[in-house]
Amino acid sequence: VLDCRTAARRVFCAAFNASDTHLADQTFDLVVIGAGAAGMMCAATAGQRGRRVLLLDHATKLAEKIRISGGGRCNFTNLKVSADNYLCRNPHFVRSALSRYTPRDFIGLVERHGIRYHERSWGQLFCDDSAQEIIDLLRAECDDGQVSWNTPVTIQAVEATGETAPDAIRFVITTDAGHYSARSLVIATGGLSIPKIGATPFGYRIAEQFGLTVVAPRPALVPLTLPPETLARLAPLAGISFEVQARCGRGEFREAALITHRGLSGPSILQVSSYWQAQAYEDGDWEAVGLNLLPDVDAESWLLSHAGERALLGNLLAEHLPRRFAHAWCELHGWQRPLNSFRHAELRQVAATLADWRLAPSGTQGYAKAEVTLGGVDTQALSSKTMEARKQPGLYFIGEVMDVTGHLGGYNFQWAWASGHAAGEHA
Ligand code: FDA
Repeated sequence: VLDCRTAARRVFCAAFNASDTHLADQTFDLVVIGAGAAGMMCAATAGQRGRRVLLLDHATKLAEKIRISGGGRCNFTNLKVSADNYLCRNPHFVRSALSRYTPRDFIGLVERHGIRYHERSWGQLFCDDSAQEIIDLLRAECDDGQVSWNTPVTIQAVEATGETAPDAIRFVITTDAGHYSARSLVIATGGLSIPKIGATPFGYRIAEQFGLTVVAPRPALVPLTLPPETLARLAPLAGISFEVQARCGRGEFREAALITHRGLSGPSILQVSSYWQAQAYEDGDWEAVGLNLLPDVDAESWLLSHAGERALLGNLLAEHLPRRFAHAWCELHGWQRPLNSFRHAELRQVAATLADWRLAPSGTQGYAKAEVTLGGVDTQALSSKTMEARKQPGLYFIGEVMDVTGHLGGYNFQWAWASGHAAGEHA
């Protein structure tokens, strides 16, 4: 948990010159800072309820994260969304918003806009053509709600007026394009992943400014790095991918793992990375990730049925694993020998290692490669129905800036839509 006592009263951000000043010094019902997935959904929802809404963002290009998502096709939701798909210190928090704005609701919007889409494995829905269509959809929905925009703009300070009545001016937002005042303020500035397209800790600083706790952020859905001794054997195999059952803490996922020049990636590894902590236990061991390399095989019976044969263990394993990986894995363990040189007890040990190969990552590839940020504004301080801060009426946090992190597979966008909609219905 970050120390909120050190938070500055004012928040200064990286500079971009705002060009659009005609809205300056105006009053809005609602100002939304951050025109990404959650911010646009919230602005459109509130605007279509007749609220006077202003969207502010410091980026020169709109919703870059949507544009690069899902390999350019945006995995915009998942057919099977439940609270179990999210990590949050307060695990029930997500239920209310997710049940009031469901994947079906967003699919309805996608269909109304004539966007063609398809389902991939595990209920994941992607655009047939381009993620840009989702950005255009949100932009059109904002236009329907007559939302005003000012981007790029630098937010210099946010201050509360001290008024608390619902219809009073409760916030003044100072930007390089002038001041805006608002009855409600929504913070939708996302997490820290991919700083080069505009991620900043702005939302965390605002939370601290208003006395809210921030759960320490860390990269998630991120490739893991391996220590040099393991990497020396595996890095030459970079690009090889195969299905595993990966485990770490409470997280367990059956999907592909990919060997990279720096360690491991692929969907199963990204998924367990959200459960992995870069911490050593008291006995000095680092937290490990466990991989079942043969999830469909009873490895012990299979190996024992081949005991006594002259083939190399690596050649037998190559029946179920990529050949080069099978041999490298045997060399890593000193097992590159004929099967007839293994005692039964040794084969049982090989089987146990195949079923639970423990790898202690040396770290992650960090925010530059992370799809999302774990941690964020502590949900204990927010209403699960409206996303409003209990301590500061009129102040809302939505999307990834909050301590809500979805699994890989469209769950993070579904949270952006659901939390944005919840705040937009209320603010
Ligand atoms: P988001 O990051 O979308 O928007 C935040 C906005 O705030 C940005 O426009 C930013 O410019 C603005 N901002 C930040 N700091 C500011 C400041 N100081 N002043 C003003 N503005 C500021 N999820 C999923 O469900 N399916 C998928 O396919 C993918 N794919 C994917 C690929 C990659 C490469 C990444 C990095 C991420 C994904 N995700 C994903 C995750 C998903 O993109 C993410 O969870 C949502 O975009 C979060 O939406 P938000 O609106 O909360 O933040």
